[in-house]
Amino acid sequence: MSDGNQFDYYSQAEAYDTAFGFRDLDFECDTLDALCEQFRGAKPRSFADLGCGPAYHGIHYATRGLRTYGLDINPHMIEYARAKAKRFGTKVEFVQGDMREFDLPEPADLAMCAIATIHYLLTNEDMITHLRSVARNLTDGGIYVFEANHPRDVFNIARSAKNEWEFEGRDISVITSWGVDEQFDPITQLATSTIHMEVKRGTDTQTYDFENLDRCHTHQELKLLIEQSGVFEPMTWLGALDVKQPLDNSKESWRMIPVLRKR
Ligand SMILES: C[S@@+](CC[C@H](N)C(=O)[O-])C[C@H]1O[C@@H](n2cnc3c(N)ncnc32)[C@H](O)[C@@H]1O
Repeated sequence: MSDGNQFDYYSQAEAYDTAFGFRDLDFECDTLDALCEQFRGAKPRSFADLGCGPAYHGIHYATRGLRTYGLDINPHMIEYARAKAKRFGTKVEFVQGDMREFDLPEPADLAMCAIATIHYLLTNEDMITHLRSVARNLTDGGIYVFEANHPRDVFNIARSAKNEWEFEGRDISVITSWGVDEQFDPITQLATSTIHMEVKRGTDTQTYDFENLDRCHTHQELKLLIEQSGVFEPMTWLGALDVKQPLDNSKESWRMIPVLRKR
């Protein structure tokens, strides 16, 4: 997250937390559990939330009694997530670090990189280094799930996810516009854009903008990068965080989610 204007970092993290609070974490963690049962033979006992931001899944898994880690590069986000975990009465071990190269205190049974955070890995080398780091931080046969954008978005066939939405928290509501004025470089597959947020707290409305730089991935490219990393075997590809939704070109398949098992 880059510097905002009139907001302090904590307020920015709170706005992000509200904007992306629309997910059904119970259902998503049940899906992750089912994938672990199917491909690892047991539910996870420990979980690593990579690029955790406000640690939605990390905190949710901690409420289920798992040993949980949250990794993020942004110290302010970690500070916010730590306070949030405390508010939820949970213990999450936070690590400030870069998901390309990191070490957790102990390997985890399951790791996840949620909601397109994977696209902050900007080069092929970043992706391969990342996959090797994740594998190093997983137990034997551990599972890694990441949520990438659906490839139809890369080819501009359609837009799979909404890029403007509103979501309300307890005393806060946020309208988010994602990917405003996008400039796409077809050689590097990097997109620069702006994330615009309009935040209402009581009668007070403030807006701020973040610069965003991310990288698009096709399905064929990801398959090769995973293979080249040499550390993961793809078990299945989902089109949503739902075991019943395979990756395909239907409307219901709106994400690209590899389910990887450590070799
Ligand atoms: C879009 S937010 C997603 C947060 C969370 N995963 C979720 O489900 O909403 C992306 C987060 O990734 C973090 N991030 C970006 N690049 C990173 C990197 N190289 N290593 C670790 N964290 C990173 C940012 O600081 C930010 O908190």
